[in-house]
Amino acid sequence: MQRVKIEPAIGLTGRLTAPADKSITHRALMLAAVSDGPVRIGRPLAAADTGATLAAIRACGVRVEGDLGGDLFVHGRGLRGLVAPPALDCMNAGTLMRLFTGILVGQGGDRVVLDGDESLRGRPMLRVAKPLREMGARIWTAPGGTPPLVVGCGDALHGVEHDLAVASAQVKSAILLAGLYAEGETWVREPAPSRDHTERMLEAAGVSLLRAGGAVGIRGPISGLRLPDLDVPGDPSSAAYAIVAGVLRGDPEVRIDGVNLNPARIGLIDVLRRMGADIQITNQREVAGEPAGDVIARRSDQLDATVVDTREVPSLIDELPLVALVGALARGVTEVRGAEELRVKETDRIETVVTALRGLGAEIEGRADGFIVRGTGSIRGGSMVASGDHRLAMLGGVAGLASTEGVSVGGFEAVEVSYPGFLADMRSIGVVAA
Ligand code: S3P
Repeated sequence: MQRVKIEPAIGLTGRLTAPADKSITHRALMLAAVSDGPVRIGRPLAAADTGATLAAIRACGVRVEGDLGGDLFVHGRGLRGLVAPPALDCMNAGTLMRLFTGILVGQGGDRVVLDGDESLRGRPMLRVAKPLREMGARIWTAPGGTPPLVVGCGDALHGVEHDLAVASAQVKSAILLAGLYAEGETWVREPAPSRDHTERMLEAAGVSLLRAGGAVGIRGPISGLRLPDLDVPGDPSSAAYAIVAGVLRGDPEVRIDGVNLNPARIGLIDVLRRMGADIQITNQREVAGEPAGDVIARRSDQLDATVVDTREVPSLIDELPLVALVGALARGVTEVRGAEELRVKETDRIETVVTALRGLGAEIEGRADGFIVRGTGSIRGGSMVASGDHRLAMLGGVAGLASTEGVSVGGFEAVEVSYPGFLADMRSIGVVAA
């Protein structure tokens, strides 16, 4: 277990490029695998999660030249051309397990067992299994609705209308992907908008999606996909750590180039601005059919508490641990509600965030659906563990630079899941860590 101590910082400054978007890399790999002909994916994220997806498509017979991080050439085998192996290891990647299930149900072969690490084995899969079963797929889970997942391939699927109980891009995507293979119309309605990368990519690949009353649909079966070459924009969920570092200690500024600014992903920027943060967006452009731009964050000495509730939650679901930290450093009581989804992430992120930040001196309390933090304007620091959760490890890093005594994070290697260059990037803006 790697332990890293992040020292308090005074003035952070520098310019970095956000690591490639994890959600988009997963989707690009999967859709390229079932595309007609070769697809170039520029700058796919090189991290453990996306490595699992690359290994999965290769295990299904897809020839891929190059490696993550550089240009990849994926020789797509067509919409129904994958050869499902008996088993696939999804490691820590919920996005891989849930989205790929929607593709595997449309392939030839018999059945494939999808399994993962201890964290993934605790995550709910009925949310994908149930709607796909309604469409005619054979899917089995372990008792309790968790992995391993056994996915039957090649069943005759038919379209169904789905009303999601929780806004989840992973579930929505799995259903839409299965809809590619289903007879008739498949519709998904969500209680609040979640990230729409799958929809954007399907449309870029030539699929005409249906839209009505906030729902999205697909009329299947689709004959083929032609995903154009794409460059992966920067991940706002990874950029979030440098953005918050800039808001807390940027002097004169921390600049993060090439961040995906999809409206369904940038809730953190809205929340921070509402709290009084000085964040500027410049150089706006389009990358891979997504809005992107450079983000400049400057030290903001007066931050006020805020409330984040249900409708806003999907747009910053993975950044909510950072809201807890900024809340502890703000003036007033910050509250996050309607975020029970945090309980079923890589860890129970209400439990792990509350335990970690409380141990560092924050006045924070967990609720069934979120947390309440009483801002004291400072955080002492100390020691915490990442609990195998990449976002916890990086939260500890940012807490350390904003603390008075520094923060020692145990299990720091968890950052490999989404952001292997985290420490190097932090050091490049002046963070001291060893
Ligand atoms: C993701 C969607 C979110 C997010 C996860 C990645 C995606 O999960 O928390 O890190 O790529 O679609 P849910 O869709 O389950 O909310």
